[in-house]
Amino acid sequence: MQLSSNHLLGIKELSPADISLILDTAVQFKEVLQRPVKKVPSLRDITIVNLFYENSTRTRISFELAEKRLGADTINFSASGSSVSKGETLLDTVNNILSMKVDMVVMRHSASGAPHFLARHLPATAIVNAGDGINEHPTQALLDAFSIKEKIGALEGKKILLIGDIMHSRVALSNIYLLKKMGAEVMVSGPPTLIPPYIKEAMDVQVEYNLKKALQWCDVANVLRIQLERQNQVLFSSLREYNLAYGVTRKLLEEVGKEIVIMHPGPINRGVEIDSDVADSGQSIILQQVENGVAVRMAVLYLLAGVKPEQN
Ligand code: CP
Repeated sequence: MQLSSNHLLGIKELSPADISLILDTAVQFKEVLQRPVKKVPSLRDITIVNLFYENSTRTRISFELAEKRLGADTINFSASGSSVSKGETLLDTVNNILSMKVDMVVMRHSASGAPHFLARHLPATAIVNAGDGINEHPTQALLDAFSIKEKIGALEGKKILLIGDIMHSRVALSNIYLLKKMGAEVMVSGPPTLIPPYIKEAMDVQVEYNLKKALQWCDVANVLRIQLERQNQVLFSSLREYNLAYGVTRKLLEEVGKEIVIMHPGPINRGVEIDSDVADSGQSIILQQVENGVAVRMAVLYLLAGVKPEQN
C-alpha cells in the first residue's frame, strides 16, 4: 500500500486510509526500535534536509533520529547562521540545497502555508511539514494518535479533550482533523478568547469552558502550551490566573475522580497549563509521545520515499 500523496503537508489532505497506513507502519518501526540494533537500511540511498526556520527540540531531533535509523543521509539547516540573513528567499535556499542532490525536505517555518508553497514549486520533491505557523503539525498529531491507540487501544468512539490555546495551536488543528477523520469525539476547553468562535460548527467539535466538566467528559486530555509568541494582543489576564482557571493540577484531577490519560506535545510550561505532579505522574504519557515520535516519523519518511511524484 502507498500514501495518496508524495508530500505530508497536513492531516487535512490525508484520507483515513493514509492515516491508518502510517500508524500501522509505525507499529513495525517501533518494533525495530526495541531491537539491540535499531537500524534498517530502507532509505540508504536517500538524502534528507531538515530545514528549520523556527526553534525546535523534539521535532528536529526526532526527525534526524528517524532518518538515521532508516539509513538516510541527513543535512541540518537552521535559518539562523545561514544566508537567509543576507536576503536569500525560501525558494532560492531550497533550490540551492536540492541542486546538491537532496531527495526530501523536512521543514518547520513560522509562516502558515510555507510547506504548501514549496510543494507547489517543487512537486517532484517530497516535502514534509514539521510545523507551519498556526496551521498544522501533522507528525505531532500522528504521534499523538499512535500514543492514544497504544494506551487505550483505539481512536474510534474515544473522547479526546484538547485544553488551552486552541486559537494559536497547530497541534490542536492537526489533532482535530485526525481525530475526527478516525471517528473520535473531540472537545476543546480553554478561555473563550483562546477558542475560535467558529470552531464548533466548522470542525464539529464540542466546546466546554468549564475545565472540570470537560475533564469529567474525556478519556484523554491533551494539554497545550499558551503560544505567547503568536499572540499580538492580551488574551487573558495573567499566567497565574490562567493556571487557576485552566491549569491541570493534581487537586483538580482528584476532584474529577476519574482515570484520565494526560498528554502534552511539549515544550511544557510547568505551573502554567500543567503542574509538575501531573506531568510527571503515572497518568501522563508525555515521554511515551516523544518516544513514539521517532517510529511515526520513520513511517512517514519510509512511505513518502515509496511514492513516485508522477503518480499524483
Ligand atoms: N512538540 C513540538 O513540536 O516540540 P518542538 O517545538 O520542541 O519541536
